[in-house]
Parts: sequence; structure tokens; C-alpha cells
Amino acid sequence: MKLLWFVLVTIVHLSVTLVPPEFQWKAVDFAWKFNTREAAVSSGDYIPENNMPAGIARWHDKLFITIPRWKEGIPSSLNYIFLNGSQSQPLNPYPSWEHAFVSRKARRTRSNSTVVSAFRVHVDSCDRLWVVDNGVADMLTNVRQVGAPAILVFDLHENKLLHRHEFNDDVLKESSVLTGIVVENLGPCPCDSFAYIPDMGSNALIVYNLEQNDAWRIENQYFHFDPHSSVYNVGGVEFYWNDGISTAVLSPPRKGHRDIYFHPTSSTKQFRVSSKLLKDKNIPREVLFGAVEVIGDRGPLSQATAADLDLVHNVMFYSQLSRNGISCWNTEKAMTKENVPLILSDCVLLEFPNDVKIDHENNLWILSNRQSRFLYDTLNHSVVNFRILKAPASTLIKGTPCEKMSPIQKAISFIKNT
Ligand SMILES: *[C@@H]1O[C@H](CO)[C@@H](O)[C@H](O)[C@H]1NC(C)=O
Ligand SMILES: *[C@@H]1O[C@H](CO)[C@@H](O)[C@H](O)[C@H]1NC(C)=O
Ligand SMILES: *[C@@H]1O[C@H](CO)[C@@H](O)[C@H](O)[C@H]1NC(C)=O
Repeated sequence: MKLLWFVLVTIVHLSVTLVPPEFQWKAVDFAWKFNTREAAVSSGDYIPENNMPAGIARWHDKLFITIPRWKEGIPSSLNYIFLNGSQSQPLNPYPSWEHAFVSRKARRTRSNSTVVSAFRVHVDSCDRLWVVDNGVADMLTNVRQVGAPAILVFDLHENKLLHRHEFNDDVLKESSVLTGIVVENLGPCPCDSFAYIPDMGSNALIVYNLEQNDAWRIENQYFHFDPHSSVYNVGGVEFYWNDGISTAVLSPPRKGHRDIYFHPTSSTKQFRVSSKLLKDKNIPREVLFGAVEVIGDRGPLSQATAADLDLVHNVMFYSQLSRNGISCWNTEKAMTKENVPLILSDCVLLEFPNDVKIDHENNLWILSNRQSRFLYDTLNHSVVNFRILKAPASTLIKGTPCEKMSPIQKAISFIKNT
């Protein structure tokens, strides 16, 4: 009975709030301008089936969409679409075709505004877009460095590059894979900022300070994968990932600092550390080790590529690869399996949910992209493969354990925790 109720709730959620998807594609195409589609196809600069969207972020009437350079034939890694546009609209390179285009044969970038390969991007509270560029092309087949790994900060009103920081060699490793970026702004805009960048490939967190234009590397035992959580089966494809820390999410400010919630992809645990410690470039390793808090375990098969925090309800949303869905957790409650329910699940619409983002109107955006078939099998381009879905966070958590606690529940939880 409990299971039936759960299934019903799930279906109701999906049909009421997420269907039809805001955007969906069988294969992604681009809004061609200075070069024609035909020329790009014949030169191999555009190989439609090799373009798989992996990250999203909303700003006003735009939705940014990243395409990592896993394979050849990706004209532009950083792109956007219009929220008012059609469901399968073509992607626009950002900040422009001229700056975003990277040809198949490129050995280096032509502009300091070019993003060669990005996974996930961040829109901050000062209308800036933060991107961490891995600088590499053809990651799966014949990896080559086209640009220096760098942080790029764009002014979203002017669509102009504000800052570019290229990492020093000692910050990264050969195996580095920079999967995303989150930003802590200190004070009113325009302001100094710290950015936190998970390095999934070499189990590190890179910290960057804008004012000093300096970046440093932090290593920690908790940034490593858990062997018990490294086997996946998604979309009928079994694979093994030993991916370390891939996601960092910031809490609201508390006494001038934030809590950074982080987790490795191949793990079901949640960790937390204060940004106060990470801002100190010379923090001793053992101090940091002692300061990381193990919050809890989301339960079996709950590995998440991405997470984001709804600051209105203090609820974290997680992509759930192995369960084709989304789970949530109210950060004011203890993290137990029961408190991290699967609130959405659909083996077609949500096959490989790869990114989740909360926007400034407190909507949850979800990108699902069938990544396991794309990487290890093949996609069928006669059917829809990439979907972007949206729903208000408040609707999604209604009636679930992620809803706000009553004052009595809060008091009980406080007593239990002390
Ligand atoms: C959609 O929004 C863009 C940017 O705000 C605007 O230029 C365009 O005219 C709009 N298109 C439609 C069909 O409303
Ligand atoms: C980018 O390059 C342009 C042209 O070379 C230069 O004027 C500008 O200052 C550079 N911007 C940054 C943020 O490096
Ligand atoms: C691809 O999908 C179409 C439409 O569902 C189907 O007819 C076709 O058999 C599929 N192709 C493969 C290779 O599975």
C-alpha cells in the first residue's frame, strides 16, 4: 500500500508539474550565422550526434546550456536559448559565434572569451555568469588541450568578459576534470567573490579569490569516491565510475561565511564544511580534515551528479541517476533515507538527470540527457534524447518530508540532535 501511494504521488507530480518538458531535442542544432550549417557539417566542425547538453543555468529570459567536448564536432560549448522560444529551438553560442566557435582542427583559441569545454555554469547574485573551462577537446577519443584551463566571468547585461583567470600548473593535475563552479559574493554588488570548483578527476576543491586573482588547491579524504557506490546501471547500460567530488552547493551566509555542502558523484553521503576555512590558503590539512562534517547518507542508489539549494525552503534537490529522478532533502532535518525521498521518477523523461538548478524565481530546472547511452552505447536520434523540465520548488516538495517543519517538529528535532 505504501508503495502504491508512493507511485501515485510520483505520477501526479510528474503530470501536474513537469509535462510537457519546457524544451526537448532529438539532436541539438545551432542558430547558424557567420558560417553555414552545410559548410560546418561537411568540414566536421558540426557533427550533430556528438553534441550532448550537460549543464543548465537560467538568467532572466535566457537559459544557458553547456556541451562538453566529449567527442569531435562541437561548434560551441557555451550556449543559450530563449525562454520564450520554441521547444526544440536552436542553440546560440555565447557570448557570440565569433568568440564561442572552436573548429574541429583548432590548436588554440582565438579569443579570451572562448569557452572550449564546460560542464556546469553558475549565475551569481550580481548578474555575472561564471564558467570553468577545462580547455580540452575530444575528451573521449583523442584528448587535446586547446586552451588553458581557466575561470571566465561574464557580465550578463553587456554579454562581455569581465575576468579571466588561467590556473597555475600547481593548482591542477594531469587527471583534473573541473565539473562546475559556485560563487560566494561578499557584500553588495559589485563585490569581491570566492569561487569553489570541484575537481572530480583529481579529488580536490579549487578555491579562487577574485580580488587577489589567486587560486589554490584543497585536498581532503572526503573528496574521494566510495567503492560501494561506483557501479551504475542507467538506460540499460552498466558502467563503473570512480568519480570524486563533483558538486558543491552554498548555504545562505552565516556570520560572514557560508556552509559548503559537497559530495563525490560515486557516493551516497553528504558532507559539509565552512567556507571560512577554505578561504584560508594556508589552512593545514589536518585542521580541514577535522572540520568536515559527515551529515548523513541518502541511502542506496542515490548517487547524484548535481544538486542545488532552494533558499526559500532550505531544501536541497539532487539528480538521481540510478533512479531516473530527483530527490530532495530539507537541510533543517537529519539526513536519513526517509528524509531524502525520491519525489520525481520517470524512466523516459528523466533518464540520466544530469543537472539541476534553482533559478531566482525558485523554480527547479532539470536537464536529462541519456548520458550513459551517449558515452558507452549509441543514442537513437529518431527519438527525443535531451529534455529540460521545470517546476516550482514549492509544488515539488508539497506533501513530502522536505516540506518545512512546524515549530513543534523543529523543537523535537532540536532536542533529538542535542
Ligand atoms: C523572446 O525574447 C527575446 C529576448 O527578450 C526577444 O528579443 C524576442 O523578440 C522574444 N520573442 C518572442 C517570440 O516573443
Ligand atoms: C580580452 O582581450 C581583449 C582584446 O585582446 C582585451 O581588450 C581585453 O582586455 C581582454 N579581457 C580580459 C578580461 O582579459
Ligand atoms: C529508433 O527509434 C525509432 C522510433 O521509435 C525506431 O523505429 C527505430 O527502430 C529505432 N532505431 C534503433 C536502431 O533502435
